[in-house]
Amino acid sequence: MTTTKIIIDTDPGQDDAVAILLALTSPEIEVLGITSVAGNVPLPLTTLNALKCCELAGRPDIPVYAGAAAPLVRPLITAEEVHGRTGLDGPDLPEPSMKLQDGHAVDFIIETLRREDPGTVTLCTLGPLTNIALAFSKAPDIKPRVKQIVAMGGGAFEGGNTTPVAEFNILVDPHAAQAVLQSGIPVVMMPLDVTHKCLTKRSRIQKYRDLNTRVGEAVALMLEYFERFDESKYGSDGGPLHDPTVIAWLLRPEIFGGRDINVEVETGSELTMGQTVADWWGVTDRPKNVHFVRDVDDDAFFDLLIERIGTL
Ligand code: BDR
Ligand code: CA
Repeated sequence: MTTTKIIIDTDPGQDDAVAILLALTSPEIEVLGITSVAGNVPLPLTTLNALKCCELAGRPDIPVYAGAAAPLVRPLITAEEVHGRTGLDGPDLPEPSMKLQDGHAVDFIIETLRREDPGTVTLCTLGPLTNIALAFSKAPDIKPRVKQIVAMGGGAFEGGNTTPVAEFNILVDPHAAQAVLQSGIPVVMMPLDVTHKCLTKRSRIQKYRDLNTRVGEAVALMLEYFERFDESKYGSDGGPLHDPTVIAWLLRPEIFGGRDINVEVETGSELTMGQTVADWWGVTDRPKNVHFVRDVDDDAFFDLLIERIGTL
C-alpha cells in the first residue's frame, strides 16, 4: 500500500480532534507531524490539546510543534462559546506525558518539505492558515514541493458561521488564507457548503458510545459538547462535523463532489472581511485555484469515521 504523507496543521477543537483520530487510525496515511496554531482557543491550549489527541490515539510518537500565537495582521478571535474554555470540553482527558518538540512549527513545515521528495507531502489544515502562510513567505522554495493543500475553511452558498459571510478559520486570518490561495499550490477546500451536510446526529453519536471503548466514550462526549452550540443556532439534529472532512477526502474522495473554481478572500472590507468569494458559475476569467467541495455522501463519511475510530 502506498501511503499519503501529511502534516496536520490544527487548532483543536473537538472536530479537529476527531480529524486527528481519523488520520492516526488510517493505514493509508502517514502523519509526519502535527503543528498547532491559535484559533479556537489561544496557542498554549491548542498545543496542549494536540498532545492530548495523540495520546488518546495511543500515538505519543507523533511529533507535535507549536506554531503561530496570532494571525498575520488582525487580532486573534477565539471560539470558546463553541468549543468550551479548554477548546476540548466534554471528556476529561489526562494531562499528556509526551513532550512538545523543540523548535517552531513553521520551521518544521519548511524542513519537512525540503527533506521529503517533491510532490509527496500534503498539508492538511484544520484551522487558520497562519503557519502555512508564514512558511511560504519564509521559504518560498518549498511551495513547488507541496503536493496539495486540503483545507477546512470558507463557504459560499451557506454564507458564514462567524459573520454573515465569513467562516471562522478564514475570518481569523484572512490575509494568510488569501496568501495560501494565491500560492499557486493546488488547494482542495472543504467549506461550510459541504461540512453543513455532515451532522453529528444523536444516532451517530450513540455509535461511538456503543463501541464501549475509552476512545469511543471520549468522542461521544466531545461531539455532545460540540453540537449543542450549533443545534441551538441552526435548529438541527446535531452540529456540523467540519474538520474530519479533510482527512476523509484523502481516504475516500469518491464520496465527495465539487468543482474547480476561483476563490479569493476578502481582506479589505470590515463588513465582509474573510468572505471566500467563490466563482462557482465561472463568471470571471480568474484562475481556477481551488477544488471547491460541495457535496458528500454523509452516511459513508460517518461510516468511515466509526470504522476507523472503532479500531482504537
Ligand atoms: C472551523 O472552525 C472551528 O471552530 C472548527 O474547528 C473548524 O475548523 C469551522 O468553521
Ligand atoms: Ca479547527
